[in-house]
Amino acid sequence: MNSVTVRVPAKVNLQLAVGPLRDDGYHDLVNIFHAVSIFDEVTATAEIGVSVRVEGESADQVPEDDDNLAIQAALALARHAGRSYGVSLLIRKSIPVAGGMAGGSADAAAALVACNELWGLGLPTEDLLEIAADLGSDVPFALLGGTAVGTGRGERLSPLEVGGTFHWVFALADGGLSTAKVYAECDRMREAIGEQVAWPQAADPLLAALRGGDAKALGAELANDLQPAAVMLRRSLARTLDTGREYGALGALVSGSGPTCAFLAESEAHAGELALSLKAAGVARDVITAYGPVPGPTVV
Ligand code: C5P
Repeated sequence: MNSVTVRVPAKVNLQLAVGPLRDDGYHDLVNIFHAVSIFDEVTATAEIGVSVRVEGESADQVPEDDDNLAIQAALALARHAGRSYGVSLLIRKSIPVAGGMAGGSADAAAALVACNELWGLGLPTEDLLEIAADLGSDVPFALLGGTAVGTGRGERLSPLEVGGTFHWVFALADGGLSTAKVYAECDRMREAIGEQVAWPQAADPLLAALRGGDAKALGAELANDLQPAAVMLRRSLARTLDTGREYGALGALVSGSGPTCAFLAESEAHAGELALSLKAAGVARDVITAYGPVPGPTVV
């Protein structure tokens, strides 16, 4: 086999409960991940050495050196296998860059799956999940897809049962937000008001809404503890969120650390209408519709 292509979805967080800051600089979370139908494609081709090229949506903002998480994934997999394998990676991006939708993590997960296949390693998912957790907190979920609750720093996963398909609208912003900066702003804001940070808990009504495929109930339960910090760093997001709510979104929240905003719609048709309204209101660089949950990385 000379070349393997893997398609990998973006995620939105349905609940992101951020606990106290840990000694290692991370926060304990309850992170309910939901994979949605916005896909990057990663093609791995046998080559001497390891390299990456990025095409598509905001490709110029993605590093093509060893800072690229997909390169780090390939190198970590080769180390795990105890050999020096080579690969050239081509990433075709549709997932917004630094947008809070785990695009970099998705590319890393896709690189792990593609290289595992290309190099004929046949490693089980458990091994890939271990390597993924060292690459970043969101990479294990990117390997899994579907809907899952993540605890620890988000890397310890339990899949969740979902009783239907949910329709989403995503408002893309100009430029990204640094995840580390958003977490730091969250800590700063909490300290400023002397907030006692509670241990994060999954919200039972949200889990029930997922099981029942109940979009209306899910919309009312969407929650992101990073949202005030993301809005503080990017004030325009408040208007984007309000506009979606005014146009009838069942729920609106910042996706992960932002700046992408996510709106839950009643149906596919409603998502299309909501997207048109948000576009016309001029509150986003671009507006796209998607559905979830979708499966994780797939060889195409
Ligand atoms: O794990 P990852 O590299 O994606 O995390 C990026 C940054 O986000 C971390 O350096 C940390 O500042 C913050 N983070 C956190 N708590 C988590 C996950 C990420 O504080 N559970």
